Amino acid sequence: MTVRARRSELATPASNEWMFAKAAASGADLVFLDLEDAVAPAQREAARGKAAAALRDLDWGRTVRAIRMNAVDTRWAHADVIEVVTQAREALDVIIVPKVRSARDVWWVDVLLTQLEEVLGLQKRIALEVLIEETEGLQNVAEITRASDRLEAVVFGAGDFSASQGARVDTNFDPVVDYPGDMWHYARARIVVAARAAGIDAIDAPFPAYRDPEAYRTACDRAAAMGYVGKWAIHPSQVGPANEAFAPTHDEIAHARKVVAAYREAEATGRGATGLDGMLVDAAHLRLADNITRRAELLGL
Ligand code: GLV
Ligand code: MG
Repeated sequence: MTVRARRSELATPASNEWMFAKAAASGADLVFLDLEDAVAPAQREAARGKAAAALRDLDWGRTVRAIRMNAVDTRWAHADVIEVVTQAREALDVIIVPKVRSARDVWWVDVLLTQLEEVLGLQKRIALEVLIEETEGLQNVAEITRASDRLEAVVFGAGDFSASQGARVDTNFDPVVDYPGDMWHYARARIVVAARAAGIDAIDAPFPAYRDPEAYRTACDRAAAMGYVGKWAIHPSQVGPANEAFAPTHDEIAHARKVVAAYREAEATGRGATGLDGMLVDAAHLRLADNITRRAELLGL
C-alpha cells in the first residue's frame, strides 16, 4: 500500500471546469473531482469526461488525483468507474467510494478495477478511499476497512451521516441544541480505531462553514488529536489550515527526537525507562515519538 500525505482532501465538483485550475494549484495533498453529491443528477454523466480530461491535462504537481464516484447502489456507479479509468488511465490515483454500507460494496469496486486494469494494461494500481456516512456503514466499519488491499483511507461523512442517523443538525452538521462535547465523537472514535487497526488513514469530515477559518482550524486540531491525519476541504481556503493542523510542529518533532535519543541511551545501558525533563520515558513514549518522526518524514519536514 502506498503511504501518502492526506492532510487536506479538497472537493471540487466535476461539472464545474472553471474551478479545476484553482484546485490543481491549491496545495492540497489530495484533490477529488466529485461525480456525486456536488453535481446535479442531470450533469453526472457529462461530468465524467470533464473529470478525466482535467486529471490528464492539468499539472497537479505532487497532489494526489482522485474522483468521488457515485454510490454502488446507484445507476451511475459502474459507468463512473469504467469511463473515468478508461479515459484518465494512470492520471487517476484514487477513487473515493461514498455511502459504503458493507465490505461487499468495496469488493464490487475492487473487482471492477482489477478487470479494467488488466484490459487497459495499466501500469499502476488504483487505490480506494471509502466514506462512512451511513449508520449501516458505521456498524460494519471494521470489516469495511479490511475489505480490500487497495483501501488507503476511510473518511467520516458527517453530512450524510447526520441524515442517516436522523440527527437534528444545522448546515455545518453541528447539533441544533447546546450539546455537551462532540455529538459525533462516537462515530469519529469508531472510525479512527477501525482505520488504525486495519493500518489505513482516517480523514475527518467536510466543514461547510468556509467563512469561519478559526472554527475549521479548531475542528482540524480536535481530529488530529484523535489520530485523524487529515480533513476534507470544501473550499480552497481550507487547504492551508488543514495542511498546518495535521503536520507535526517544530516543537513536537524536536521533542520526539529527544525522546528517541533518551530512550536509546537508556536502552544501551540495559534500562527500559528513563527520565527526560522530569518526565518518565518508556517504550510507549518511544512509539508516540516514532509516530511523530514518521509523519515528519512523510511530509518532508
Ligand atoms: C460527505 O459526503 C458528507 O456527507 O458529509
Ligand atoms: Mg455525503
